[in-house]
Amino acid sequence: MRRRTFIQTGALGLGAMALNPIGSLGKAGGKPHRNLWATSVFPPPGDDARMAWWREARFGLFLHWGLYSILAGEWMGKTNYAEWIRNNAHIPLDVYDTLVARFNPVKFDADAWVGMAKDAGMKYVTLTSKHHDGFCLFDNKLTDFCIRSTPYKRDICTAMSAACERAGLHQCWYHSIMDWHHPDYLPRRDWEAATRPVDGAKYSRYVAYLHGSVEQLLRNYGDIGVMWFDGNWETTWTHEMGRALYDLCRQLQPNVIVNNRVEGWSQAPITDPLGDFRTPEQQVPATGWPGVDWESCITMNRNWGYNAHDHDFKSVGQLIGLLVETASKGGNLLLNVGPKADGTFPRESVDRLAGIGRWTKVNGEAIYGTTASLFAKAPFRSTTKGNRIYLFLTDWPTASLALPGLKTPVREVTVLADPGRRPAVATDGAGRQSLGSLGAAPDPVCSVIALDFDRQPEVGAA
Ligand code: GLC
Repeated sequence: MRRRTFIQTGALGLGAMALNPIGSLGKAGGKPHRNLWATSVFPPPGDDARMAWWREARFGLFLHWGLYSILAGEWMGKTNYAEWIRNNAHIPLDVYDTLVARFNPVKFDADAWVGMAKDAGMKYVTLTSKHHDGFCLFDNKLTDFCIRSTPYKRDICTAMSAACERAGLHQCWYHSIMDWHHPDYLPRRDWEAATRPVDGAKYSRYVAYLHGSVEQLLRNYGDIGVMWFDGNWETTWTHEMGRALYDLCRQLQPNVIVNNRVEGWSQAPITDPLGDFRTPEQQVPATGWPGVDWESCITMNRNWGYNAHDHDFKSVGQLIGLLVETASKGGNLLLNVGPKADGTFPRESVDRLAGIGRWTKVNGEAIYGTTASLFAKAPFRSTTKGNRIYLFLTDWPTASLALPGLKTPVREVTVLADPGRRPAVATDGAGRQSLGSLGAAPDPVCSVIALDFDRQPEVGAA
């Protein structure tokens, strides 16, 4: 694939994908309000300190793993399922529950998983402690529908948080508000309403169970970086409940970061939207949101949970392109792997993490701790860090490279993959700067050039 297309493919290929379904569901209830793009509402004094590690990190691993991984996307001959399989394939609860006796990931090795994330240049790991199906990967004292009841028995979240601690990565928990198993969760799935009557169901009792589960996740596994809620779109979940859950998280671990999918519905317009960062899904926003924290969560293939038939994986070049695109727009990338039921990663995921790691090892400084590009329009993406600008070149220029709108004189130019190379800077009569001949591209996918300045660089209209 021609190098230039990898950025477009990375952007266009994903930009066209469906927006976060929550956005469409936002109209489902009609009258109630819900803030779909919650942003940090507080922040209490010094809040930036709480967000600092996350803004520095820029890159994390998302893991979707659970009972659904056993089915590997297949049911009754159809093969287009994944983590939503119980709902989408209408699997009755008692049939799905038999998977508990089959969950035995004998090859699970938390240090190996976290090691692959670290080697890829990722700084945090977000694991599905409980997905919509209600099964808990941790030893949840409030339910038997958890890892304790499986042949494996051992607490996955204990193993993962310890491995992250050893590796110096932040452990984060995905936790679904929606729960297709708990008898008090409402609404029921419409296709099973007849077989799962709501008699006696009390949603408030479910909310207490949810709080009790989150309390265990924030008390028993050390410092947690992010509570990544999801499944908040059904109108039983209110803004007030979201506020209470957000506050619970911050009371248990004052430095924990909470995403915007803790937000619920409100009859009145929401004036205090919940959440510390936005969560665009399967897309990178056309532009970032200046002053707002956001993280794009994106799959490597087409599914979050493991699907043995989905071999439609993005290339290493496309995945690096996504990382560069999110960082150049001032956001984080949460890149997903759906582990197999035996506890291993799909081969394609292993290879892609290794390929990304070879690139971040050389160029990671252009991603971590950076802020968005200063260029409004340029033939390259870029990031900014103090008195330095990083340029990401997929189409290595054979002649010169214009630096459109750059006002501040460049002091020094470095090619990250070839520090000995010192491209020259030319300035024309109108003060327009450009880089002279750069020689051969040092990286087959994306080469990075650092521009150093004597002060914070300024870029005007091209
Ligand atoms: C969508 C999927 C859900 C997944 C989430 C990750 O909401 O339905 O299964 O966990 O995206 O952002």
